[in-house]
Amino acid sequence: MSSAALDLMGTIFDVPQVKWSDSHGAVDGHQAAGALYFCLPYMLKAKTCVVLGSGAGFVPMMILAAQRRLIKENVISKLDVTLVDAHTGIWGLPVYQTGGDIDPDLKLVKQLSADAASSFANIDYIHVDADHSYEGVTSDLECYFPKLSKGEWAITVHDTDNPRAAQGGLPLGAWDAARDFAHRHGLAIVNFHIGCGTALIMPSKDEPPSAFGRMFGRWKERIMARTRASAIGTR
Ligand SMILES: C[S@@+](CC[C@H](N)C(=O)[O-])C[C@H]1O[C@@H](n2cnc3c(N)ncnc32)[C@H](O)[C@@H]1O
Repeated sequence: MSSAALDLMGTIFDVPQVKWSDSHGAVDGHQAAGALYFCLPYMLKAKTCVVLGSGAGFVPMMILAAQRRLIKENVISKLDVTLVDAHTGIWGLPVYQTGGDIDPDLKLVKQLSADAASSFANIDYIHVDADHSYEGVTSDLECYFPKLSKGEWAITVHDTDNPRAAQGGLPLGAWDAARDFAHRHGLAIVNFHIGCGTALIMPSKDEPPSAFGRMFGRWKERIMARTRASAIGTR
């Protein structure tokens, strides 16, 4: 492997594992879904990234590592990763409170995710991990959808497989909300069954055919049917 490739890989493994890293499958130096949170902003050359709710900062740190690498490569010029966390709900309070693992380059917005949406524009990558109820995740996805950049973008949604939902009746509706959102807007979605699950939502390239495309399709079908009929007739 070239030294550039090793250097790139190294940036992923330099990110420390913190509380809740295991919910992304990361254990014993293996970064699991952490690699996804690095690769997505890296591939997208993401200038603006937003994380909604992240108790210990594993995902924001991975995104910052990707942006640091993009700056080193002269692809982007500055770091721009914001964590919106209202310090509310049933998870995440202690780490957020002490600030222990929060990277100093991370912009912190201590606000409800829905209230903070108006301050963003042209988001290239957003990670949703705040209010995990069906209504909460749906609200976050719908509030931030118009805030995405016009080009390529990606959304990840955490806790799409969390077994605690079934066990303790916790308000976990992340997968259902992500799937319904993707279907409603004709987007591509895949669920990575890693840790507590992470769904990836991206623009779909399978756009429905235009009116011209449908007309052309019908015309092409008629010509082919006529060709088939005349071919049978000449046998
Ligand atoms: C499940 S924790 C995130 C932990 C996470 N799994 C991780 O990897 O670190 C959810 C976080 O979202 C925050 N939160 C919950 N509802 C929120 C809302 N509506 N707006 C903003 N933050 C919220 C909580 O304060 C908490 O820190």
